[in-house]
Amino acid sequence: MDYFKIKGPCRLNGEIEVSGSKNAALPIMAAALLAPGRTVLKGVPYLSDIRVLGLLLESMGCKVERLENGDLAIDATTIDRPHGDYEIVRQLRAGICILGPLLGRCRQVEVSMPGGCAIGNRPIDIHIRGMRELGANCYLKGGYVIADAPKGLIGAEIFLGGSFGSTVLGTANVLSAAVLAKGTTIIESAACEPEITDLCHMLVKMGAKIKGIGSPRLEIEGVTSLNPVEYEIIPDRIEAGTFMCAAAITEGNLKLKNCRTDHLLALINKLRGIGVTVDKTKDGCEVIRRGRLNPADVTTQPYPGFPTDLQAQLMSVLALADGNSIVVEKIYPQRFMHVAELNRMGANLRKEGDIVVVAGVDRLSGAPLMASDLRASAALVIAGLAAEGETIINRIYHIDRGYEKIEEKLNSAGALIERLKE
Ligand code: EPU
Repeated sequence: MDYFKIKGPCRLNGEIEVSGSKNAALPIMAAALLAPGRTVLKGVPYLSDIRVLGLLLESMGCKVERLENGDLAIDATTIDRPHGDYEIVRQLRAGICILGPLLGRCRQVEVSMPGGCAIGNRPIDIHIRGMRELGANCYLKGGYVIADAPKGLIGAEIFLGGSFGSTVLGTANVLSAAVLAKGTTIIESAACEPEITDLCHMLVKMGAKIKGIGSPRLEIEGVTSLNPVEYEIIPDRIEAGTFMCAAAITEGNLKLKNCRTDHLLALINKLRGIGVTVDKTKDGCEVIRRGRLNPADVTTQPYPGFPTDLQAQLMSVLALADGNSIVVEKIYPQRFMHVAELNRMGANLRKEGDIVVVAGVDRLSGAPLMASDLRASAALVIAGLAAEGETIINRIYHIDRGYEKIEEKLNSAGALIERLKE
């Protein structure tokens, strides 16, 4: 197993290019199932989650190929087995996003229920409710979600909200099923995340009819077939936000290329509030920190609120602020695996339910740490850059699921991170 050895503290200075978005690419790859023929996707990052979804599509009869120029080609001419195997889906929660496209195209699907994960319980009840409201029989059996609609799906008015707000992959699934349903579907309380907007744009390019893109109310007029297309994925806002936090914690000066600042306004607002300068550039931004950091209060919310996927990284930064910060996690109340690890580095964090009180300290010190999930691991890398001495992060396969060559990118801007084998 690989691990990282980080020598700190460092001051990041330079330019980093942001990769294409993992969380946009995954449902878009699944949506390629809707159109017989060859879809070509540009800007798909080289990540283990992407590779695993590719294997899942291949297991159903598609041909998935990385072209020489880096594009990802998915040939979905034939789907001979609309089945998402447990052995593959257990490695990738986003495997569930084949549910909607397969039900739409093949009128039947079986997909293994994704398991729980380190960030807490991750139910799929809303996905199932959405499929039923489109007229499918949809039920759980033997650890699988089984759905069929022998006469095709029928448009409906569907409220997709849950106790924690909208659902990103639930919206992707219902939307991807509804584009081939008969009649009009209204999705109320749809997720507004940029990844869903990106999926909508891809579906429209394929021939779908969708109104209200980017809003919580999507109106979909079903069509009888869709065409394969060439499509470019948006930049990864969470990777970009992670680098912004890395610049902030290291008193750095970092330029980010291929970064959509309009997707990151909640983070930029917090960073400016704690004393970090974020200036827009032609194709990204420049993040500069000079001097001490102010504390902040942060609550995670569905987009355009502060993203849960950046909560851990910002917490690392706040651990070194002058004063007390409060971080409230409203999407995944148990998503605090990084708290104990940051405390091992000398941070002063106290967790009470879904709230963490962060009492800022003057310095962090390097320590051996365990990566637990993707974003918590990124938070530890960021803390390791600012900590004095050596930080060892074990189980970095979690980071490789969602960050393309993170150590190479950070090292190009002055970090000292080594990838070693146990
Ligand atoms: N929820 C339900 N029932 C459902 C679905 C969701 O109660 O049927 C709840 C969840 O438990 C959670 C909330 O609704 O409390 C929001 O979950 P959502 O469905 O939006 O999460 P997701 O679609 O499974 C995606 C991202 C996550 C990101 C969340 C929230 C992908 C592949 N995953 O997950 O990304 O945290 O949206 O923005 O797009 C990551 O990249 O590290 C990651 C975990």
